[in-house]
Amino acid sequence: MDRNSTFTVTADTMSKALPNMAMSTRAIHGDDFASSHTGIAPAMHVAVNYRYARDPTKLVPGENKNPSDPNDSFVYSRYSAPNGARFEKVLEGLLGGPVITYSTGLAAFHAIMVLLNPKRVFIGDGYHGVHAVIHLMAKLTGVQKLGLDQLGQVEPGDLIHIETPVNPTGEARNIAFFSHVARKAGAYLTVDSTFGPPPLQNPLEFGADIVLHSATKYIGGHSDMMGGVLVVRPANAIEKWWMATLYAERLVMGNSIGNLEGWLGLRSLRTLELRVTRQSQTAENLAKWIHEEINDSSSDVGRVVESIKHASLQKNGVKEAWLNKQMPRGFAPVFAIWMKTADQARQFPSKLCIFQHATSLGDVESLIEWRAMSDTTCDPRLLRISCGLEDVNDLRKDLLQGFKALL
Ligand SMILES: Cc1ncc(COP(=O)(O)O)c(C=O)c1O
Repeated sequence: MDRNSTFTVTADTMSKALPNMAMSTRAIHGDDFASSHTGIAPAMHVAVNYRYARDPTKLVPGENKNPSDPNDSFVYSRYSAPNGARFEKVLEGLLGGPVITYSTGLAAFHAIMVLLNPKRVFIGDGYHGVHAVIHLMAKLTGVQKLGLDQLGQVEPGDLIHIETPVNPTGEARNIAFFSHVARKAGAYLTVDSTFGPPPLQNPLEFGADIVLHSATKYIGGHSDMMGGVLVVRPANAIEKWWMATLYAERLVMGNSIGNLEGWLGLRSLRTLELRVTRQSQTAENLAKWIHEEINDSSSDVGRVVESIKHASLQKNGVKEAWLNKQMPRGFAPVFAIWMKTADQARQFPSKLCIFQHATSLGDVESLIEWRAMSDTTCDPRLLRISCGLEDVNDLRKDLLQGFKALL
């Protein structure tokens, strides 16, 4: 055989031959060259530590390069490990910037606070755990928490942190607006995009400095892993040394993603686009149906449900231009309903067959939560609904029989 005619595919030839691969392809092949192992599915590496070179002349303090596989240069799993590194590589191709992973979403937010060490954080509604991290940091640094209605006071070095779409309603916020305010004042904008995973929105495109995802939700998607992800604006990653600093600080904080979770995350990314697109369509469909039923005076649904919120119904369904631009492929797969009474909200989950009464969201199983169970500050009439991958007609029938059972 003529050796010169052999066509060897490498990451480089692949990106030249197939530039601009779509998200679904990148999710499946983004790590094809990150391991010399021939397994089509990634191996699960559980090792904590990695053997150094046997030849003492090859020992380089601080690194451990494997000459037969440039991707296999690990020292200790708290620094970095094969499953997590491969997970980060695929995520980078999907999220549009350098990625670092953590043990949980809150650990990722904590890492932002340690990196930027702001004196003031401007933050609105959203996941209560993120507010709890700020209170914890206040104990150490005295950081002050202000509201998004106080943006007139933003100064250089402050942090504006927004969650969009927001927990628990799934309504969206205009990222470009907050980015404009941050830029003008010399402040930073971080965006918790947990409720808007790819392919729904890319906050970097609209000016975010750092994007956060709780990988426990859509990125994991199977109710079986916890993780956190930060995506850094490429310019900040290099010019401000943010990426190198995040890696150095993760090493000290010890909040790296676990080996098993890195592997589970990689498994989950292969289907991310399919799952999220379908879950988003289901949420829009169910939200529209409930909204119409509430407005129909003869409907049984309207006798027990007071109101509903979701991005598809924002501004009474007249979608603003920024919203369509920011979320062109659909809205959050989560919405919230308010029952007429707190007692109905407490009882409703027990009437359902398919929806599981549990906290969290983003899983293949549809979930409903009487939100007071995990957020005691929340209106006790509120139920949060996270759409899974079951058939939308079955989900609608389940909700309907549940509403009727309350009457
Ligand atoms: C919007 C949002 N951000 C962050 C988190 C925290 O994620 P984790 O539970 O992975 O720490 C959650 C958890 O529910 C969340 O809903």
